[in-house]
Formats: sequence, structure tokens, C-alpha cells
Amino acid sequence: MTFNNKAILLAVFSLSIATLTHAQSGENTYKQVCASCHGAGVLNAPKFGDKAKWAPLIAEGQVTLTAHAYFGVRGMPPKGGNPNLSVEGFADALVYMVNNSGGKWTSPDAKTVAAINKEVEARKAGSNKK
Ligand code: HEC
Repeated sequence: MTFNNKAILLAVFSLSIATLTHAQSGENTYKQVCASCHGAGVLNAPKFGDKAKWAPLIAEGQVTLTAHAYFGVRGMPPKGGNPNLSVEGFADALVYMVNNSGGKWTSPDAKTVAAINKEVEARKAGSNKK
């Protein structure tokens, strides 16, 4: 029984670490990948904290905005210019940016991630252009 208890403790511990990392990674990814353009508004990128610029974007909804930005739109490079960035990592960085620019989003759950992926695929297929 001692072994089982340890295993459960370990599982709970790993889970809380995972949750912590997840919550912080959006900010880290933003700083590492997005801030170079969105921090100062380079190339007319909607600036971090600029509520007026972000309001109409936030109004598009999390699935649409995340998918279109991840796919790339006009001056916004696909995946923020980082080919290794996952949809989840990108989405969390965007949540961090949105929540500091007048919005109130949460890290997307599995269902939302699936919807984002579907929308990215639709963009790839060339349908559903903005
Ligand atoms: C090389 C510069 C650059 C980097 C790096 C970058 N962006 Fe952008 N981003 C832009 C520009 C420029 C636009 C404005 C595009 C336009 O409307 O012409 C933009 C627009 C956006 C939009 C609005 C898209 C829309 O539908 O209008 C979102 C959301 C976004 N970026 C998220 C991110 C996130 C999240 C990251 C980091 C993971 C990131 N960007 C990294 C330059 C950048």
C-alpha cells in the first residue's frame, strides 16, 4: 500500500507542476516569440496593452483569432515566426496578450484546441478567407 500512496502522491505532484508550467508558459512564449513585434507595435502589429486595437480582434472570438493568427495573416508570420510553436503554445501566448489588452480569455481546453486546429486546416485548404 505504501507504494500505491507514493504513486498517487507523485501523480498529484506532477499534475500541479504541469498546471503551473502551463499557466506560466503563455507569458514566457509571449516574451520569447511575440514581444519583439507586439511589444512596440512593429510593422503595425497590434501593440501589447492597446485596448482599442485589440477590442475588435478579441471580438472575433478565441477560436477564429487564434487560428487565423497561427496560420498567419498579412504582416503576422505563421506561428509567430517560430516553426516549432504548437497551437497550444501559441494559444497560451495569445491568451496572455489578450488578457493584458482588455480581454478575459482562458487557456483553451481540448475541445477549443480541436476547433482551432479545424479552423487552421480550413485556412490551409484555402477556404473561409477573412
Ligand atoms: C515578426 C513580427 C511578429 C511576431 C514575432 C508576432 N507577430 Fe502577431 N502580428 C504581427 C503583425 C505585423 C500583425 C498585424 C497584421 C496585419 O493586420 O497586417 C500581427 C497580428 C497579430 C494578431 C491579429 C491577427 C488578425 O487576425 O488580425 C494576433 C492575434 C497576433 N498577431 C498574435 C501573435 C502571437 C500570439 C505571437 C507570438 C506567438 C505573434 N503574434 C508574433 C507581427 C508579429
